[in-house]
Amino acid sequence: MLIRTKIRYYFHIFAPVNCSKEAIMKEIRIIDKTFRELISEEAINNRINEIAEQINNDLQGKDVVFLGILNGAFLFAADLFRKIKFESRISFIKLASYKGTSSTGSIKELIGWNEDIKSKTVVVIEDIVDTGNTLERVFGELVIRKASEIRIATLLFKPAAYQKDIHLEYTGFEIPNDFVVGYGLDYDGFGRNLPSIYTLVK
Ligand code: IMP
Ligand code: MG
Repeated sequence: MLIRTKIRYYFHIFAPVNCSKEAIMKEIRIIDKTFRELISEEAINNRINEIAEQINNDLQGKDVVFLGILNGAFLFAADLFRKIKFESRISFIKLASYKGTSSTGSIKELIGWNEDIKSKTVVVIEDIVDTGNTLERVFGELVIRKASEIRIATLLFKPAAYQKDIHLEYTGFEIPNDFVVGYGLDYDGFGRNLPSIYTLVK
């Protein structure tokens, strides 16, 4: 009994070294699905530094409001914004679905506006641009509210899924059209706290 326990104990300690450490360390399970690391924490951090530098060069001297789209963009927005060197503000909005009274089905309402963005340069901060529906909805609202300039910063972009032609000025990574989690993105509410981005193992 004692020997069996000891063997299990030592296997537990040495298994990651002997049985492909990479494979074990970089695969995770969330609810019923397995995900594999796609973009490391270090790569994300390096890319955010580059994007921040670009924004610092491009928008220095303008009246800028950063606008994070909740929930997914909260980490990217925080990490990007702390690297912005000029005076600027940040605000967040959220898309809420509710059932319309007509038969048109679900309608996305933008909630949480507390910033006057009229005549300002707005940098929309998104976690991921997939079909572009969310972005189009936000963009339209910014036009109505008379932003003088609208720029998009998205950490991830799925070109194969994108159906709009709104230009994305600051893109972190182009990724395949597969489901991803981590660094703010979720699977059924979980996985947002992962420091890297993970892709679904099929
Ligand atoms: P879009 O409106 O189709 O561009 O999708 C935008 C939103 O869908 C993003 O802001 C995410 O919240 C969510 N989304 C799209 N693709 C993924 C994914 O691969 N993983 C997690 N969430 C995603
Ligand atoms: Mg989102």
